[in-house]
Amino acid sequence: MEQGTTLENSPSPENIMKTATGFWPSKVLLSAVEFELFTKLAGRSLTAEELGTELGLHERAWYDFFDTLVALKFLDREGDGPEGKYRNAADTDLFLDKNKPSYIGGMPEMLNRRLFGFWNDLEDALMTGKAQNETKGGGESVFGEIYSDPERLETFLEAMTGFQAGNFMMLGEKFDFSRYKTVSDIGGALALLSRVIAGRHEHLTFTSFDLPPVAPHARNRVDAAGLTDRIKIVEGDFFKDELPPADVITMGMILHDWNLEDKKMLIRKAYDALPEGGAFIAVEHLIDDARRENIFGLLMSLNMLIEFGEAFDFSGADFRGWCSEVGFKEFDVLHLAGPAFAAVAYK
Ligand SMILES: C[S@@+](CC[C@H](N)C(=O)[O-])C[C@H]1O[C@@H](n2cnc3c(N)ncnc32)[C@H](O)[C@@H]1O
Repeated sequence: MEQGTTLENSPSPENIMKTATGFWPSKVLLSAVEFELFTKLAGRSLTAEELGTELGLHERAWYDFFDTLVALKFLDREGDGPEGKYRNAADTDLFLDKNKPSYIGGMPEMLNRRLFGFWNDLEDALMTGKAQNETKGGGESVFGEIYSDPERLETFLEAMTGFQAGNFMMLGEKFDFSRYKTVSDIGGALALLSRVIAGRHEHLTFTSFDLPPVAPHARNRVDAAGLTDRIKIVEGDFFKDELPPADVITMGMILHDWNLEDKKMLIRKAYDALPEGGAFIAVEHLIDDARRENIFGLLMSLNMLIEFGEAFDFSGADFRGWCSEVGFKEFDVLHLAGPAFAAVAYK
């Protein structure tokens, strides 16, 4: 051992091997979601044989698969061996049982069916800078692909809901909405941002703007929430149309979908749709300015390379620079949930 080196600070292979095998636990969880394991097990307690038989799994796989899920804390097990009974852990029961409104399996389903395979071509993406999804084999763009199939559209929109619900709740807490009356949420999907913030701030009214195929789904959610009077669903295309004017313009995971030119076009349109003193808010997995820490933001940016090629995630400093170019005067960054932030620019 070199002088001054102790066992505690000498290099360890742990991080290398943990990351190298990172796809193992990921694929175990994604397979469980694909088999609807947590939905079938909800409210029940089954032996390995009962559960394996119900899911149609080979006997060889029963104990390794279920016990790995126990060790990963996605299942609980009472007892050991053939008598041991498996049941959902609290989080998988709440979020991965399809029969509960809190289901967020849409994103894991999409990760399993689309992105797991596409990420296998990361090396190609790194060498060519090109997308590795359906478009690689001559398919349509992500949104074209998703929106051509009503069932896939519903799954995609639900997946976004799982991702953003906590972030929008935090935005409602942390941003000072008391100074404003109207909000336009651009690319609003199922109008989740509007629904969540409407519940927290009763003086606000909202416009949720998205492509025409999304509108009926959004309207259903808004009607079901009893918010029809306060949330207007507007159909439009932000490449062709101006944005609906409001005191606050929000974009949740919109800017990261596009290249620099399109990002700047969207920022310019947001500026034009705001009054003096209005605020533009981007909810994103902002990369830290030094690009060293927010692993999720950096991986999300690689995911944008896989999905779109030119699209990329960005830091608060990048956002500030682009927004200054069009005339925004003041800036703020608010931490939301986990790796998500709200980047704010004031006109
Ligand atoms: C990544 S999702 C984000 C959804 C939502 N804002 C959130 O934070 O969960 C991107 C959204 O942009 C919408 N979108 C894509 N292209 C659009 C366009 N040209 N005009 C309007 N909306 C568009 C999609 O329909 C989708 O709802």
